[in-house]
Amino acid sequence: MNLDFFRNRATVRVFSDREVPDSLVCEIIEAAAHAPNTGNMQLYSVVVTKSEEGRQKLAPLHFNQPAATGAPVLLTVCADIRRFGKWCDCRQAKTGLYNFGGWLSAITDAAIFAQQIVTAAEANGLGCCYLGTATYNIDGFSEALDLPEGVMPLVGIALGYPAEKEHLVSDRLPMPAIVHFEKFHDYTAEDIDAYYKEKESLAESEIFIAENGKRTLAQVFSEVRYPRDLNEAVGDAALRRMGVRK
Ligand SMILES: Cc1cc2nc3c(=O)[nH]c(=O)nc-3n(C[C@H](O)[C@H](O)[C@H](O)COP(=O)(O)O)c2cc1C
Repeated sequence: MNLDFFRNRATVRVFSDREVPDSLVCEIIEAAAHAPNTGNMQLYSVVVTKSEEGRQKLAPLHFNQPAATGAPVLLTVCADIRRFGKWCDCRQAKTGLYNFGGWLSAITDAAIFAQQIVTAAEANGLGCCYLGTATYNIDGFSEALDLPEGVMPLVGIALGYPAEKEHLVSDRLPMPAIVHFEKFHDYTAEDIDAYYKEKESLAESEIFIAENGKRTLAQVFSEVRYPRDLNEAVGDAALRRMGVRK
């Protein structure tokens, strides 16, 4: 397989009006479910939202991001330890998954499943945008989608045909930044300079810094986009949902 398919892909946030047939959505999900998963327990599930009413309910939970308001299909991929637990209940077994370790397996399975959906969709000419906002509003999604205990929304996927043919491929850190041969080599300040040089010198990064009134790109990411209080709130809600914290 030519790996340029992976190198040239990009997130799509603007979709055309072209309908995505149910049969294609189902085919993509069915193929994605062949992804590796923990012990073949498949500790995930996905809610497909296509109705106007359903999408209008979900969009504000995704903070009305354009990808969420404009996509013909919204998927909510969930970490799911409930189905396995119910199977155990019905078969004289006691599930061992209702704890943080079990949830970690389910989160791993759901993340791999989600990415397999994205890859299958992109390979079929569809565009996708992950919506991490699913975890910003765990209670809201659980209520809107009737998610019971043992099922946690992990990530949304906005799905549709791209409005535009061309798309901008985004930057990535250079290989030495992410690969450690044989042993992990900790990052020196010089390494950090080298690894982030290209990203920091992009015109869009400078605009980003100016727009947010910050001095460095790292400040934009750590103080505006992914600040500590937001991550703590997401983590607290997830731990409550997992039953790990009250
Ligand atoms: C877990 C996760 C959550 C994401 N959440 C959002 C989101 O809420 N909104 C958005 O526009 N993009 C979201 N993205 C897309 C990333 O911003 C995007 O993948 C990244 O900037 C790299 O760009 P590329 O996919 O075009 O290569 C998310 C991606 C992941 C994996």
